[in-house]
Amino acid sequence: MQSGDEPAAAVLEADALCLRFGAVEALKSVSLRVAPRQIHAVIGPNGAGKSSLLNCLSGFYRPQSGAVRFCGQDISALVPHKRAALGISRTFQGIQTYPSMTARQNILTGYDARMRTGLFSALLYWGRVRAEEEAFAAKAERIIEFLELEELRHALVGDMAYGMRKRVDLGRALALDPKILIMDEPMAGMSAEEKGDLARYILDIRDGLGIPVVLVEHDMEVVMDISDRITVIDFGQVIACGTPAEIRADERVIAAYLGGGSA
Ligand SMILES: Nc1ncnc2c1ncn2[C@@H]1O[C@H](COP(=O)(O)OP(=O)(O)OP(=O)(O)O)[C@@H](O)[C@H]1O
Ligand SMILES: [Mg+2]
Repeated sequence: MQSGDEPAAAVLEADALCLRFGAVEALKSVSLRVAPRQIHAVIGPNGAGKSSLLNCLSGFYRPQSGAVRFCGQDISALVPHKRAALGISRTFQGIQTYPSMTARQNILTGYDARMRTGLFSALLYWGRVRAEEEAFAAKAERIIEFLELEELRHALVGDMAYGMRKRVDLGRALALDPKILIMDEPMAGMSAEEKGDLARYILDIRDGLGIPVVLVEHDMEVVMDISDRITVIDFGQVIACGTPAEIRADERVIAAYLGGGSA
């Protein structure tokens, strides 16, 4: 082992996750280490287990065995909103925005997710909650600026183009003040221009905000362009993990993509 090779500590770590749905083995001993300030892509053919892995990380699925650790803490037993409160934020495959609310209101719902457990304390400490809400309104403004949504701040999300709605959804995920951001196919259905914009924001999230990103994405050009590390899953198993250059040259990866579906 070379001492300089391994990152000091993983932010988020999956250790030998096994997940079954009846006879379907969605994950077969899948491990993943997401290092600080890295964009870590998870790729693989349709049905490979990518969303299942993300769901295990965020707590929506409970693997039959294996562990999930966040900043060294075993969070395997925690429900999704407790993981969110720790700083694990995610966007889902598809759209999660509220169409009849404005961009700003949608972003503010990210805050509600964090406040979810606090109804009793909200009643007890009303003044403190108000102060918190004001602080959050200021924070929402910073997110609006960061994502260049100023002109759409008060526009209804239902009236927006798809790419803009996805951008608002990203704003909602950022409102949680995440320590890590998990994104499932954020670019699906986007135009080339929208993908370019989103790729730039993801790089800014890593470089400007210092937040690592776990990214499931089918657009290989984008993945190869912006990822620091890539984990490849095929039929519920990790078949490769490495830099974009290593992954591009990996024979098992090439076989999975070229021959996997029809084999
Ligand atoms: N809730 C569920 N109930 C039953 N089977 C499931 C469930 N979620 C996933 N699966 C199965 O687990 C396997 C992996 O699915 P998963 O959605 O993780 O794949 P994926 O890599 O995200 O695919 P895609 O690229 O199409 O999104 C598939 O066989 C799928 O049918
Ligand atoms: Mg999926």
